[in-house]
Parts: sequence; structure tokens; C-alpha cells
Amino acid sequence: MFPSFYSRKYKKKFEVKTNALVCEDITVPVVDGISRFVHTGSYASLFGEQWKKYKKTQLDSYTGIPISATRLFRCLGPLKDNLRDKLVLEAGCGAGRFTEVLLQQGARLVSADLSSAVEANKENFALSDTHQIIQADINDMPFENGTFDVVICIGVIQHTPSPEETIANLYNLVKPGGYLVIDHYTQDPGQFFMRTTSWHRRRLRKKPFHETLAATTKLVKRYLPWHRRFANNRVMRILLNRISPIDTYYQAYPQLNDQLQYEWSLLDTHDSLTDWYKHLRNKKQIASVLSNLGATEIWCEYGGNGVEARCQKPL
Ligand SMILES: C[S@@+](CC[C@H](N)C(=O)[O-])C[C@H]1O[C@@H](n2cnc3c(N)ncnc32)[C@H](O)[C@@H]1O
Repeated sequence: MFPSFYSRKYKKKFEVKTNALVCEDITVPVVDGISRFVHTGSYASLFGEQWKKYKKTQLDSYTGIPISATRLFRCLGPLKDNLRDKLVLEAGCGAGRFTEVLLQQGARLVSADLSSAVEANKENFALSDTHQIIQADINDMPFENGTFDVVICIGVIQHTPSPEETIANLYNLVKPGGYLVIDHYTQDPGQFFMRTTSWHRRRLRKKPFHETLAATTKLVKRYLPWHRRFANNRVMRILLNRISPIDTYYQAYPQLNDQLQYEWSLLDTHDSLTDWYKHLRNKKQIASVLSNLGATEIWCEYGGNGVEARCQKPL
């Protein structure tokens, strides 16, 4: 049902043992059904804690609003209705806001993440004949090149050490004739916002989770009531954004009720103040990376969290 695990170091497959995978001198523990190709103490460990704490917040089944489906379907374009039984890799799956949609579309899905977010993903979407979860680094995935019909990586690449290297490694995993679907942060026209967040981010991103969570909660409790109050006042909104370091959704998703506005603000403010890497790329740069890899049918537009792109690997 799923492809065999493959060691890039030894260029051969792992053997499956009880609670472990083995290849030469590499032993990969399998804990709670999740093969752990990496340890948790990476630059992404705060993400892991964040997703375990807010495991349901951004699921469409929790909000009752198809926010994640709409974003993913826009990135997938015509692939949206063509995922049934396709072998799909979701790289950087987090708690699974897109996992949910991909499983609903009938994909045979491998959800992968560098951090312990895989545990939140498993709690939300059990392992099954159509869902496998692994803890692994996008830049060292335990699969042979050309394995997947579709590789999807949304909300992740900007947080990796080198976006260009990450895109190339994701592309390598796509089968000839298959597709790569990605997005990337872009330059924010609200430069004042970036400046206030970068001060808090420098302070917070090296701290342990209990401190980053406490600091984020304090900021959200202080600023969110003001954002709510001035949600419909453009001038006050602009002024507020010059001093407030929090993410809010009164404009983008006014359908979210007060409790959800609070939870989304907490989650995304924590995300944006504690990420280790935060690269920015424009549409031309992303399209050029894909084109230099030899991709065809390149679609690349501004939207969602920055730039969204899709391409095909030629046969
Ligand atoms: C902002 S979260 C997005 C999660 C999910 N895609 C979503 O949109 O909800 C970024 C995720 O990428 C993961 N990540 C970062 N670098 C990674 C890498 N090199 N390999 C795999 N996952 C990575 C983090 O652990 C985190 O769960």
C-alpha cells in the first residue's frame, strides 16, 4: 500500500523489524506506529509543542468553516478532483489541517513532519490503510526519488534552512508526470508589522515552550480586544498594526466566532513569533526555482500566505 523506506546513505531499503526499521548501522525506532527518522530536538521543536497544544484549532471539522480546504484547493487547482488512490506526500504536516482534506479527497497519504507535531497529527487522523505518518526531515526523506504522484508542502518551506534546497528535494521525490504543490511567505507590504514582530521574535524564539506560550498569551490578551473593537475602522486598524505584534483574523475570516478568533490569534501569533527561520521569496523567485529544476506547467500566483505554486515533473 505504501512505498518501502529507503536509506539515502546506503542506497538500499530498510528492513522491517519489531518496533524498528534497520538498514546497516541505522536503527529507526517505531513509536506508537510512527517511524522516527529524526529526533525531536531540532530547530522545529517549538512547532511540535505548538501543534500538540492547538491540535484542533485550524481543522475545518473544528471551525465548521472550509478555510483549509479552500486554501488547499486553490493550490491544487485541477488536481483537487484527481487525488483518489494517488500516492501523496504531505511534507510538514503539522497537526493536520490539510491532512484532513487530503484524506477526504481519497489520497493514499504519507504525512511527514520534522517535529513531534506528528503525534498531534496521529491523534487527529488515525493511522490506516490510507494514512501513514513519519517523523522525518524534508531534506532527508526516507524514500527513493520519484516515489510520489503528488508532493504537497504548504506553510513550511519558509521555515527551513534553505528554501531553494528544500524545493529541489521535494521535487526529487515526485514521479515523472507527477506534481509538486507548494507555498512560501513573501515580502509583507505592512513593514511596520514585520518590525514589531521581529523584536518579539528575537526575544522569544530561543525560549522554552512554557515561556513562549505565556508571552504569546499575554500579548494576545492585551491586543486582541483592540483589534476586535476597531475591526471595521480602517484608519484605526492601520495605526494599531503599527504597534500590535499579534496575528488576527477579523478581516480574513470574519465568520470565526469570538472564541475561535482568540484561538487562531494565539496559535498564529505563537507560530510567527517563535519560528527559527522566516525566509521571504517573491513570485518571480519561486517560479524561477521551479523552472531551473526543469518543471513544466508552472502555475505561480500571489495568494494565501504569500506565493502559491504548482508544477509538473516532465515524463
Ligand atoms: C507553520 S507549520 C505548518 C504545518 C501545516 N502544514 C499547516 O499548515 O498547518 C510548519 C511545519 O513544518 C515543519 N517543518 C519545518 N521544517 C521541516 C523540515 N525540514 N522537514 C519536515 N517538516 C518541517 C514544522 O515542524 C511544522 O510542523
